[in-house]
Amino acid sequence: MLLLLKHKFFIFLIKIIQKFGPHRVEVLGNVYEISAEVFNPKYYYTSMFMAGHIHVNSDDTVLDMGTGSGIQAVTAARQGSRVTAVDINPEAVTYARKNAALNGVTDRITVTESDLFQSLDPEQKFNVILFTPPYLEGTPKEFFDHALQDPQKRLLKSFFREAGNYLEKNGYVQMLYSSIADPDAALKISHELGWNHNLMAREKTFYEEFLIFRLTPG
Ligand SMILES: C[S@@+](CC[C@H](N)C(=O)[O-])C[C@H]1O[C@@H](n2cnc3c(N)ncnc32)[C@H](O)[C@@H]1O
Repeated sequence: MLLLLKHKFFIFLIKIIQKFGPHRVEVLGNVYEISAEVFNPKYYYTSMFMAGHIHVNSDDTVLDMGTGSGIQAVTAARQGSRVTAVDINPEAVTYARKNAALNGVTDRITVTESDLFQSLDPEQKFNVILFTPPYLEGTPKEFFDHALQDPQKRLLKSFFREAGNYLEKNGYVQMLYSSIADPDAALKISHELGWNHNLMAREKTFYEEFLIFRLTPG
């Protein structure tokens, strides 16, 4: 009950930031434009923390699942890899394309509207899948809510059910999760679907601890 209230309070705060916060921001030396309907990559530490832990190279193909502003896609493309970025929110798709252009990497990023893997070619395989899933409780009602809410971790379950089909041999998923959303329960879901994990990084802010996991199919 207390946790649900906490989640509701976070959603309230984030929506205020989305509405009144700047819609052009700089993160780790790159510039991103967003609208109120696209997850702001500057004001939630998750985006920068994840981007700071991407280590790919020009041989890698990367899937940026839930690209939002495109920050993770741009970061991976600037390291030389070829990136497919997808989002269920059409406005995120528009801005991720714009941000690929703003940061000079349109030649290495393809952005597509997709509900998880639905619009991808089932034969397509990636070396790395990047994913910061929504992790707050509640049912998404508007497009932006998909950035925040995943009721009963249903999206996470579907993701781990399918992600293995899109990975190259020795490929991995890099996923960020939060202490306020029961990361052990998230890992239990992945384990039950046959995934192994390592903790890549963790960082505590005053209200939340962020964890980045590297997951491989068993
Ligand atoms: C927490 S935000 C992360 C955005 C971005 N990756 C970042 O690091 O700033 C989660 C993103 O996943 C997207 N998303 C949620 N459900 C999705 C689904 N079923 N398929 C594709 N994208 C989804 C949301 O629209 C949102 O852009």
